[in-house]
Amino acid sequence: MKDVNKLNKTEAAEELARLAETITAHDQAYHQDDAPIISDGDYDALRRRNEAIEAAFPHLVRTDSPSLRVGAAPAEGFKKVKHEMPMLSLANAFDESDVSDFIERIRRFLNLDAAAPLQFTSEPKIDGLSANLRYEGGVLVRGTTRGDGYEGEDITANLLTIADIPKKLPPDAPAVLEVRGEVYMAHKDFEDLNARQTASGGKVFANPRNAAAGSLRQLDASITQQRKLRFFAYAWGAISATPHTTQADMLACFAAWQFTINPEWQLLGDTATLQAHWAEIDAKRATLGYDIDGMVYKVNRLDYQERLGFVSRAPRWAVAHKFSAEQATTRLHAINIQVGRTGALTPVAKLEPINVGGVVVSNATLHNADEIARKDIRVGDMVVIQRAGDVIPQVVRVEKKHRAKTSKPYAFPPTCPECGAKARADTRDDGTQDAVIRCSNGFSCPAQARERLKHFVSRNAFDIDGLGIKQIDEYWAQGMVRSPPDIFLLAEKHADNPPDIWRYKKGDALGGLKESVPKLFKAIDARRTIALDRFIFALGMRHVGAISARLLARHYESIEALEAEAQAIAEGDSAARERLSTIDGVGDALVDALAAFFGEAQNREIVAKLLAAGVAPQPLPALAADTALAGKVIVFTGTMEKMKRQEAKARAERLGAKVAGAVSKNTDYVVAGADAGSKLKKAQALEVAVLDEDAWLALLETI
Ligand code: IVH
Repeated sequence: MKDVNKLNKTEAAEELARLAETITAHDQAYHQDDAPIISDGDYDALRRRNEAIEAAFPHLVRTDSPSLRVGAAPAEGFKKVKHEMPMLSLANAFDESDVSDFIERIRRFLNLDAAAPLQFTSEPKIDGLSANLRYEGGVLVRGTTRGDGYEGEDITANLLTIADIPKKLPPDAPAVLEVRGEVYMAHKDFEDLNARQTASGGKVFANPRNAAAGSLRQLDASITQQRKLRFFAYAWGAISATPHTTQADMLACFAAWQFTINPEWQLLGDTATLQAHWAEIDAKRATLGYDIDGMVYKVNRLDYQERLGFVSRAPRWAVAHKFSAEQATTRLHAINIQVGRTGALTPVAKLEPINVGGVVVSNATLHNADEIARKDIRVGDMVVIQRAGDVIPQVVRVEKKHRAKTSKPYAFPPTCPECGAKARADTRDDGTQDAVIRCSNGFSCPAQARERLKHFVSRNAFDIDGLGIKQIDEYWAQGMVRSPPDIFLLAEKHADNPPDIWRYKKGDALGGLKESVPKLFKAIDARRTIALDRFIFALGMRHVGAISARLLARHYESIEALEAEAQAIAEGDSAARERLSTIDGVGDALVDALAAFFGEAQNREIVAKLLAAGVAPQPLPALAADTALAGKVIVFTGTMEKMKRQEAKARAERLGAKVAGAVSKNTDYVVAGADAGSKLKKAQALEVAVLDEDAWLALLETI
């Protein structure tokens, strides 16, 4: 075999083509046919040769190169499977009186007087994703997600990678058995995964539940295998013979069949003992090593469960008693000022690291200067912080009794900490000062430029694989990327003379090109064609979120048309201002922001350079004009459970509706999920039709 350094370009290209074909054939033999043709050692040698040639000739990396793949080719999406027994949800209880009401209702329903014995299992409510495992003749034949409760997705290959899930059951197990439980990720595995994701420029997950969901729904099960998922069994679906008569015995039976059951469960009798167990688990929640969000109480006797049955989508025999957001007290060491992409100066509390609900917290947002003044937060204070689900930790209040006598109120800095320019608040139309203080240096402030780049590559914008926050910081520090067009020139400018950060370190010397570099070039190339709304959003203009970007993309259909109109407004063209303002959903703040952005030559230059670098924004597909939702204005708010908000919005738009961010008298429907807040109130005040999630799904069914 010829030394890689002696290959010429043509030879290298030919050999890469051959290697791609050979390695793909071996992958297929190994992963799909379970019949490898060559030894592992020989296979590795082929892959190493492929990588060595790619490192020497990065511009020859093929789109079908084996180095861009992990393991077997992904399956064609997940197959849908109807559940033999529906997978339902649970009603919630928020306090002790809800729990006693729950028990009262059960006693009434079963006609049990107060003295008759009634027991409950009390089990932690695991915050993960439920799954159904079907065993036939003791063998795991299929695993599915919950889906909408009636139909889930076949994720057998993924579930098979979870060590906690037995693949075979002992001979005494029923002939047909569906075991249900929760797939979750432990805190330490979550932190390890995020550290690896950060290092590789991959997606960083907001919480263990999202990480578990993202890992479970991988089409390529070899990725699931690398993520450490776990499983607790707590219920069952179809079952050919029920071996026991109580929930407690069923749990013990699962354990005997080698399932993992949560060790914290107890068999209890009344509201007081349930409440005490709830408080005990709440107190040690942070030390469990995984997220739980409440306790589930289930009637122990299965004959009672049978009689109690279901109301709508939840059993009458069980309830979820939720925990409240987790709080902790710690010291605030400093207040740092972060500069955002629009120049907003955001104060961040630097805290003595503390474990809140299993996650170590060392920063908390302080929002703005007004918030600090209102809560009178000072450096050195002991503060109560709170973490609730995905939300960034917040400072709830100061423990003033611990405050040092010498402490002084916090003074917001008068200048930008990054570039030294004067910091000031905008003056509102009514003459008052805005709560947000901004750096006045516009885009010449390096912090703003860097943040704009991070926004440019973020998930709803260009979303480039392998180009995340960490890489932007690195490339910025190296001077390789200073504005968005530089991203599209990375390969052209640096491939022939790769910077050190793109090369492996071997001992003290630098070795070949990292595998991630050709992958990055490919990911960047893939984004030269991009939807117009993403392109507009990526520019990072003030007041232009994903929804306004979509509105503008629909209306203008090209970046040139939008730019021309906005520039005209900046130059004082009142007819243009009028035209833009009449678009439904476009307010004055947005018009001003567009004019301010495109009024600056520097920004127009960025757009021009992007287009010159081959970035081609594509107009959005036409809207459906003839459905019942055509032309309707819909606002989504609150948490949707069955159809995530993103999907709901996409569905609405495909059916010709306009999705708006704020409720006004022009809104036709507000779809309110759980915990909807001010938007729901506004809708009620304006008498706008409000649909809950089920009503929304029902409406979709009719179209
Ligand atoms: S029992 C018929 N037990 O909570 C209801 N569910 O909000 C059977 N969950 O979809 C569910 N821990 O994903 C049950 N110990 C536990 C649970 C649990 C978590 C989840 C489950 C369910 C959701 C309902």
